[in-house]
Amino acid sequence: MAVNTLTINDQLISARAGETILEAARDAGIHIPTLCHLEGVADVGACRLCLVEIEGSNKLQPACVTEVMEGMVVQTHTEKLAEYRRMTVELLFAEGNHVCAVCVANGHCELQDMAVEVGMDHSRFPYQYPQREVDISHKQFGIDHNRCILCTRCVRVCDEIEGAHVWDVANRGGESKIISGLNQPWGEVDACTSCGKCVDACPTGSIFRKGATVGSKLGDRQKLEFLITARTKGEWTR
Ligand code: SF4
Ligand code: SF4
Ligand code: FES
Repeated sequence: MAVNTLTINDQLISARAGETILEAARDAGIHIPTLCHLEGVADVGACRLCLVEIEGSNKLQPACVTEVMEGMVVQTHTEKLAEYRRMTVELLFAEGNHVCAVCVANGHCELQDMAVEVGMDHSRFPYQYPQREVDISHKQFGIDHNRCILCTRCVRVCDEIEGAHVWDVANRGGESKIISGLNQPWGEVDACTSCGKCVDACPTGSIFRKGATVGSKLGDRQKLEFLITARTKGEWTR
């Protein structure tokens, strides 16, 4: 196994060749903020919260999809990165209709936690107030597109762990949207096994269990973690 030596925040660390900067940093106890990253499924670099500075490159790079290289010098917490991270979270809040006070995930939302982490107390960008729909055609679940931050965690968990591939991303730019099946109401998609993995994978209140009320959405992270370990390591422990 080839090993690379690199420096993260002036700390000398070793990492397996092929590991990402995010994995190497986490192994060394260095926290890098993430939203679209979900342990055990493929990384896509969608949210840009994990951007880091790499010496010799004038572009910021997403740590979750950038592999370590021998001699790399990485900074994860500079003033510039803090400013970009805060701006990214402000843009997410300005782009959808995130009214936390009436959201099922209030108090248990990773986007809300991220706003606290990056020190966002208001958004300096104009709110878009888009008209987006809520699909409650599924017997057990619903999706509120107003809360969706297009992290695609639902898409990947349904495809890579459940093997059902119910979700996809349609359109581009501001028109981008998570769709079920062939852009059908979720309840009409035969491929959905109603396993609920997308509900647990969603970091916001976008995908929820029917009957959930304000603040009552609690993701079952242990279930996801169990499935991911079982799938990647073949360890069925219960
Ligand atoms: S409930 Fe399961 S099968 Fe249905 S969309 Fe969600 S993850 Fe996919
Ligand atoms: S529905 Fe949830 S998990 Fe899926 S892309 Fe939107 S925020 Fe992410
Ligand atoms: S966690 Fe790396 S881009 Fe989202």
